[in-house]
Amino acid sequence: MLIRPETLEDYAAIRRIVAAAARPQDARLVDLIRESDRYLPDLSFVAVDEDGPVLGYLMLSRVDLVSDVTRQVLCLAPMAVAPTRQRAGVGSTLIRHGLGAAEAQDEPLVLVLGHATYYPRFGFEPARPLGIEPPNGWTIPDEVWMVRRLGTYTAEYRGRVRYPPVFDVTRA
Ligand SMILES: CC(C)(COP(=O)(O)OP(=O)(O)OC[C@H]1O[C@@H](n2cnc3c(N)ncnc32)[C@H](O)[C@@H]1OP(=O)(O)O)[C@@H](O)C(=O)NCCC(=O)NCCS
Repeated sequence: MLIRPETLEDYAAIRRIVAAAARPQDARLVDLIRESDRYLPDLSFVAVDEDGPVLGYLMLSRVDLVSDVTRQVLCLAPMAVAPTRQRAGVGSTLIRHGLGAAEAQDEPLVLVLGHATYYPRFGFEPARPLGIEPPNGWTIPDEVWMVRRLGTYTAEYRGRVRYPPVFDVTRA
């Protein structure tokens, strides 16, 4: 298995996998992020088999962290592994690769809204105790709102997160 940044040729397979493993609106989200100024092509990864098929996908893109200043930070969403290939390490490999790439770019942190029993094994921790609040009006359990601190993180990275409007598609 190989992890590499996505290319245009992967888009159809990514759409299929995200729609099958997560929801059709998550597949739509990928397309919308790509069309937006929040897209980071070098931080959107596919896991592929030696002979080519896409097995899994992980996208990191930019969201706002708003306090007295607005900082753009990384958010992990969506992520999906082909249903027939889940629980075989694909997701873990993608996450570790994505975190390593973010670290290499001196990013301070990665946010995720996700499974509270999955992400902590990669160093994610609840974000609210660090002063990183979910968007206004979101009522979500504290344990699913997580952050992975990276090397350049400081306590200045706090405030309320604001997702760009393209994320509204996931809340329909
Ligand atoms: C969640 C997901 C990305 C994990 O990828 P994966 O390749 O199956 O995961 P890995 O093989 O690396 O890791 C397996 C571990 O993930 C855990 N896991 C898988 N799905 C999980 C879920 N829905 N909730 C909590 N933990 C989960 C398993 O407990 C397993 O741990 P174990 O080995 O201790 O039993 C994948 O299962 C998936 O695409 N699920 C559907 C879409 C989704 O939920 N996306 C994430 C939204 S936050």
